[in-house]
Amino acid sequence: MKDNLKPILKWAGGKRQMLPELIKCFPKKFNRYLEPFIGGGALFFFINKNNSIISDTNKELINLYKEISKNPKKIIKNLKKYKNNKDFFYNIRKSVPNNLTDKACRAIYLNRTCFNGLYRVNKKGEFNVPFANNKNVRLIDENNLLKVSKLLKKTKILNLSYDLLLKKYAKKNDLIFLDPPYLPISKYSDFKRYTKEQFYLGDHKKLANLFEELHKKGCYLILTNSTSSEVIKLYKKFNIKIFNTKRNINSKGNLRTGKDIIVTNYETSI
Ligand SMILES: C[S@@+](CC[C@H](N)C(=O)[O-])C[C@H]1O[C@@H](n2cnc3c(N)ncnc32)[C@H](O)[C@@H]1O
Repeated sequence: MKDNLKPILKWAGGKRQMLPELIKCFPKKFNRYLEPFIGGGALFFFINKNNSIISDTNKELINLYKEISKNPKKIIKNLKKYKNNKDFFYNIRKSVPNNLTDKACRAIYLNRTCFNGLYRVNKKGEFNVPFANNKNVRLIDENNLLKVSKLLKKTKILNLSYDLLLKKYAKKNDLIFLDPPYLPISKYSDFKRYTKEQFYLGDHKKLANLFEELHKKGCYLILTNSTSSEVIKLYKKFNIKIFNTKRNINSKGNLRTGKDIIVTNYETSI
């Protein structure tokens, strides 16, 4: 049995809290695992399956995964020079590294030491989260990073939009986990910016059409989203389950309960 690995980054909308439910939804057998909205990759790292395909439109995130697959030891060595204090943080935040190892270290460092552990950028695509001033920060779990690197070496890592990725790579019997930016329940919902581009209702409709196409192709599909009535309408002919989930909303680990849906195109045991 392979280890269940942990994500390298904390990610808004990360699925760590939902892992037990998601695992129970898995089909008994499937071919490859595809995750086109990979983000922090909680489920992907947990299942630790070779020959998977992951992708995200966030370029910095994808560069990070590629660099971890190639140079994990260099990243570990360089990160030891990083300091958890305010001046160091703001210097790194405004810096624009030009080599891939420094870029990877910068992404891990900012994610660990910034407020809420969030990745968020402004309209110009600049990281804009302030310093957390949290004394108990562990920048890296070396053992986990080395195992993550091994897994990533056996993974196809792409920087494509989900539709391009799936049209090109999805095949019959592949398991595809779709975790797009959620459709807000109301206009007052938290706003989460992962990239300069946003994911609107029109994008959710396009995704639902592709879900139908992949279903016809014979793929196993698991999709998560908010319990918004529009989302429920889009997937009404498939299996929809609603869950109460706890979300980590800040670095002190305060929890808030929310609801998520899991849609599958096949019967599950839950
Ligand atoms: C809810 S998060 C995924 C979280 C992930 N499952 C985890 O456990 O951390 C959604 C991700 O979709 C990415 N994204 C947004 N639009 C996209 C698109 N058109 N194609 C691919 N990825 C996209 C965002 O950059 C973000 O990382």
